Amino acid sequence: MDTVSVGTFEVNEQMRELVERVLDTGRISYGPLSRELERRFAALHDCKFAVLSNSGTSSLQVALQALKELHGWQDGDEVLVPSVTFVATANVVLHNRMIPVLVDVDPQYYDMAVDNVEQAITPDTRAMIPVHLFGQPAQMIYLDQVAQQYGLAVIEDSCETMFVSHAGHKVGSWGDVGCFSMYAAHLLTAGVGGIATTDDPELAAKMRSIVNHGRDGIYISIDDDEGLDGEGLREVITRRLSFETVGHSYRITELEAALALGQLDDWREMIRTRQGNAAYLSDGLKPLAREGYLQLPKTRRDSEHAWMMYPLVMLREDKWGVCNYLEERGIETREMLRLTDQPCYQGLWKPTDYPVAEWLNQRGFYVGCHQGLDESDLDRIIEAMHEYCETCND
Ligand SMILES: Cc1ncc(COP(=O)(O)O)c(C=O)c1O
Repeated sequence: MDTVSVGTFEVNEQMRELVERVLDTGRISYGPLSRELERRFAALHDCKFAVLSNSGTSSLQVALQALKELHGWQDGDEVLVPSVTFVATANVVLHNRMIPVLVDVDPQYYDMAVDNVEQAITPDTRAMIPVHLFGQPAQMIYLDQVAQQYGLAVIEDSCETMFVSHAGHKVGSWGDVGCFSMYAAHLLTAGVGGIATTDDPELAAKMRSIVNHGRDGIYISIDDDEGLDGEGLREVITRRLSFETVGHSYRITELEAALALGQLDDWREMIRTRQGNAAYLSDGLKPLAREGYLQLPKTRRDSEHAWMMYPLVMLREDKWGVCNYLEERGIETREMLRLTDQPCYQGLWKPTDYPVAEWLNQRGFYVGCHQGLDESDLDRIIEAMHEYCETCND
């Protein structure tokens, strides 16, 4: 029996041709394909610049580090993070020696609840990291207003969402920076990879430098000295091993850029298929929601949804019974991104201070919704959910 997976990686002809081009030319480090991917990805998200790195986490890390250095924020300053997200969102705040202050999420849409944001702001708050969870944009139209009112920087954690809009604006174009992931099972799948988008040239240059060990921006790529002679060449030679900031080695190769570029033409079709799959699942599971077994995902009227996954919440019991039941039948599940009660954060915050997160920690999980699933896969999810709910106790 085939597994109904939570993610997919499909290889098309264009991906093969581009990977072969990398192998044939021998140009493996940041080069023409990486630049092309940055240019096209930025344009698709209505941004002027995109900076590639080796993961979504690295993009978040360099975005926060760059903002901290440019604004002169101090160690111990605070950053708002939603109470349900992948650990990376909170980890980059800690790695930057800042304090993640959690904001409990909305019980229906699972993003940072606008009503909880203002009470989490203190004189030490410098930034917020709203997360576009499961493929749906956070309520940026309101969060952006709060950020402006309190002078906070905004980093969009868009690692689970690409190509879609909220209130007419693309994800990644709302904040100072938007951070995306190309990890396995994401929307563009290159194995690893991160992309940070921004309109700010100074921020883009700083992030690019931090990705490259903090190197002087005059020489980031091995062809940055091409065509130079005389004074220009001398300038590059004297500065190319000069490091302006304590950076990281977060570079990516042309191979990942080739894989991602080869998928880029198909993004509309991919999002359409995922939206169709989500509608099909919701239709099939609606009777269970009506009977009070389940909470189905909802899409806000002013947002498009990219459906990186399909989240469900059990209303009468915790998630473990149903997750085991589905897994035994070859249907992959994942817990709905627990953050507050992770062992690594013990003592950092009190999980009971975030009741919605606690509820979702116990009851929330997700299944796949991707373009690699066909109707029979979706039917298997729907049928197994009906079987389980009909046999479980009222
Ligand atoms: C919300 C969120 N933020 C950050 C990340 C980190 O991305 P990466 O795995 O590319 O480092 C992920 C990855 O799954 C994520 O879901």
